Formats: sequence, structure tokens, C-alpha cells
Amino acid sequence: MTSIVRDQWYVAAYGREVGRELFSRTICGESILFWRTEAGRVTAMSDRCVHRRFPLSESPSHLAGDTVVCGYHGFTYGADGVCVAVPGQTRVPRTARLTSYPVVEQDSFVWVFIGDPAAAETTRIPRAPWLDQEGWTTVSGMEPLAARASLLVDNLMDLSHETYLHGGYIGTPEVAQTPITTEVDEEAGIVSVSRHMADAECPPFYSRSTGLQGRISRWQDIEFTPPCLYTLHSRIAPVASVPHEDGSDPDAFHVEVVYAITPETEHSTHDFWAVARDFALDDEDVSAFLAENNRTVVLQDVVALDKLEQVIATEPDGYQELSINIDTGGLAARRMIARLADAGAGAGAAAPAAAR
Ligand code: FES
Ligand SMILES: [Fe+2]
Repeated sequence: MTSIVRDQWYVAAYGREVGRELFSRTICGESILFWRTEAGRVTAMSDRCVHRRFPLSESPSHLAGDTVVCGYHGFTYGADGVCVAVPGQTRVPRTARLTSYPVVEQDSFVWVFIGDPAAAETTRIPRAPWLDQEGWTTVSGMEPLAARASLLVDNLMDLSHETYLHGGYIGTPEVAQTPITTEVDEEAGIVSVSRHMADAECPPFYSRSTGLQGRISRWQDIEFTPPCLYTLHSRIAPVASVPHEDGSDPDAFHVEVVYAITPETEHSTHDFWAVARDFALDDEDVSAFLAENNRTVVLQDVVALDKLEQVIATEPDGYQELSINIDTGGLAARRMIARLADAGAGAGAAAPAAAR
């Protein structure tokens, strides 16, 4: 039984990672080749030559205009994955085509559809507009995680761990002390978790980036769109400052922390992280600080979750846990993901050939 939800859009890369070099990444257990056409369009197709399975991302495979030439015997494929030339004969076998994947570039990400391509059009791609929008400056990266995606979902849905795992970076005592409220919007497919701290210590992550000194009002409003996209709307302001009635919020600093949680395999995950801010837009020192600091925080999670994966991999299915109030959001996310997995599995069973 797979834990990977199919028939969904996943973040495969940042747009900046894909160019006129052959680029390969395993997404949900599928090795996918990405490259840009001469016109700049991103393509996504299987990274296995149909002839003898040589990886098309491996040298001496190469791009020739808008075709990719296999480095073993020269099978040549167009941007749609269809084979256009083979060696030693003029007739190209009708079945010589690579699985090609629906692909969309949006919000600085390359999104790829994993599952039955016929379902791609009707399946929503969640948004993270700040990452590619006027008025925001973003730093971002991706860390490989040797742990199943569900562990990262648990981790991000419960930020009380910041106090313990990320003390001295983003954690302060108030995070773990302050209760959360959780909401599930079944129709929109979103789990929300909020924690509003009215009078809290300002952690270095925010004091150094905003310049705020002393106690702060700190809001954490999470929106998770299972299975892939997590956003944390973070509001940092002087104590007692609240947004104006017209929606403006001039005394506050806003940070959008975005994670895309993409399974690489059943037991490993691509941990894409991005931090967008609406202040100090041109300040490169702030960018460098936030990039370095957030990466450190992500790596603290990676170390913990890699360890956790090793532990639970040795335990029987249905191992014991003990959940408390802080886990409400994580449990809601698990339920929504389980339902999506059932739906994806059902659709896959109905049309198994289409996905291959
Ligand atoms: S394996 Fe690609 S041409 Fe033979
Ligand atoms: Fe964390």
C-alpha cells in the first residue's frame, strides 16, 4: 500500500533549476527528465530511454535543438517525448515514446502532474503568489530529506516544536505555551492552524531581519493544501499593534514561509522551502541572513526527521503514538491526505494504462 497520493500536482523544481541542461529528479518514485525548449517552455518526460532504459539525463545524452538524443545508441525524442529518429532504420516504431507529464510553471515553481494525465486539467494547483510578485523579496532552497513526506507534514503542522528544536533561531517559550485553533475546509481542501501570540519574545530570525526590539505580537497562520503545499502567514509587529479596519497593516512585518513537500520515494522527500518578506526588499544582508538562518532551521528538522524515519521504519505498521491538542492540525492533514490517496488510488485502478 503506497502512501504517495497520485493524481496530484507536485513541485518538481524551481524554474531556475531547469534550463538548456538536462535535469533529472525523481518525483513520487518516477524518474523525470526536465529541460527547456529553445522558446523557453519547460518539458517533463520519463528519464528512461525506451530502447534499453539508459537515463536521458546522463552524459553523453544531450539536447540538439528541441530534441533530446540518447547517449547510448541515439534514439532521439521531441519535446512531447515522441521518438523522432532511431539508428540503422528509417522507420520509427509507433510505440517509441517516453511518458510525458503535464507541467506548469507558476509562482517560481515547476509543477508536474503525477497520475492519470487526463485528470490534470481538473486538478487544482495550489498558489504561493508572493514568491514571484512585486512587493515581495524571496529567498529559497531545497533540502533532501531521508524521511517519508508525512513526517514533514506532521512537523510543519505543529510549530510548537520551534521552542525545542529551533530555540535560538525561531523558537521562543511562547510558541509552545500558546494554544492553537484548527479549522478544516473540506470543500477548499485546506487545513488551517492559527496561533496568535499577543506578547512574545522576538526570536533572532525576526529581530535581526525586521530590526524590531523588545516584545512583539507574533501571529502564525498556517494554510496547508494537501498533499503538497504549505504556507505560513507570519505577522510580526510591536505589541498591541493590530491591522487597520481597511485591511492595511503598516506597523507589521509580514513573512510568507512556503514549503512544498514532494515525495521522492516512499521514504524520502524533497523539502522545498521559501521565505518571502514585504520589508527590506532590497537589503541583501537581510536576504543573506534569512536564507542562511532558514536553511539552518530546515536542516535542524531534516536531522530530526531522518532520525525519526530510521526509528519508525523498524517498527510495525500502526506503531503507537500519543496525540495531544498541538497535533490537531497534523491529524486533520493526515485524514485529508488519506482521503486523497483513496481517491487517487481509485482513479489509477480505473485507468492504469493511461498513467504509464
Ligand atoms: S538506450 Fe537509448 S538508444 Fe539505446
Ligand atoms: Fe521545524
